[in-house]
Amino acid sequence: MATVDQEQPKAHAPLHVAIVMDGNGRWAKRRGLPRSLGHRAGVESLKRTVAAAPDLNVRWLTVFGFSTENWSRPAAEVSELMALPKRYFESDLARLERDGVRVRVLGRREGLSADLVKMLDEAERRTAHNDKFFLQIAFNYGGQADIVEAARKFAAEVAAGRASPDDLNEAVFASHLATGAAPAPDLVIRPSGEQRLSNFLLWESAYSEFVFQDVLWPDYGAEHLGAAIDEFYKRERRYGGAVADDVLATG
Ligand code: IPE
Ligand code: MG
Repeated sequence: MATVDQEQPKAHAPLHVAIVMDGNGRWAKRRGLPRSLGHRAGVESLKRTVAAAPDLNVRWLTVFGFSTENWSRPAAEVSELMALPKRYFESDLARLERDGVRVRVLGRREGLSADLVKMLDEAERRTAHNDKFFLQIAFNYGGQADIVEAARKFAAEVAAGRASPDDLNEAVFASHLATGAAPAPDLVIRPSGEQRLSNFLLWESAYSEFVFQDVLWPDYGAEHLGAAIDEFYKRERRYGGAVADDVLATG
């Protein structure tokens, strides 16, 4: 992939983009293929998207790979989804490491096989020193579960006498989420035509712009990410405030 330069991205660039990778099953069905092949094609889209992001001034990319709700799919499909990180890291971890990408995997490790946990930990460990680009993969992740987990962690600190309830504010709470110190996503993208957040980054997306695209994830690539970012540039972000011109006009 292209490496990002050391300068800060340009003023309003979406520093952090989050993507709900969706549409693998429909993509496969349209081709008369098993869903597993849709998921495998989706890994190629992830590679293309990670490669394209730095050139679009994106520094953080968070993708939804497997949600806590995806366990309800048929066992064969769940095992195909469980095999995707291995597929991705076996082909790309060395490149990510070399290109200065720091990988983090968000979500519960409980419930994942020992081999998979080892691989996820290895991806994090081998890239821990990198800081050119940040790739977060949400795997066995659910936004509500993550919020509950953050509340539990803070409660445990209070119970242990290391914190007081009065210490809690939005920033402290956010630091207990899986995303920790990551900046909030500026832009959340969902391809495949669905217009839902589906329990992704619930807390973190409070002020994100949302772009929904009609392409299925296995067809996704640089041009789609570019189009979503073009749309982002057209949006006016106000964070609950008013636009400076309007404030002046209306006093
Ligand atoms: C996204 O594709 C992959 C995951 C949810 C892990 P889907 O499998 O949801 O594909 P559709 O929505 O059935 O087309
Ligand atoms: Mg889907």
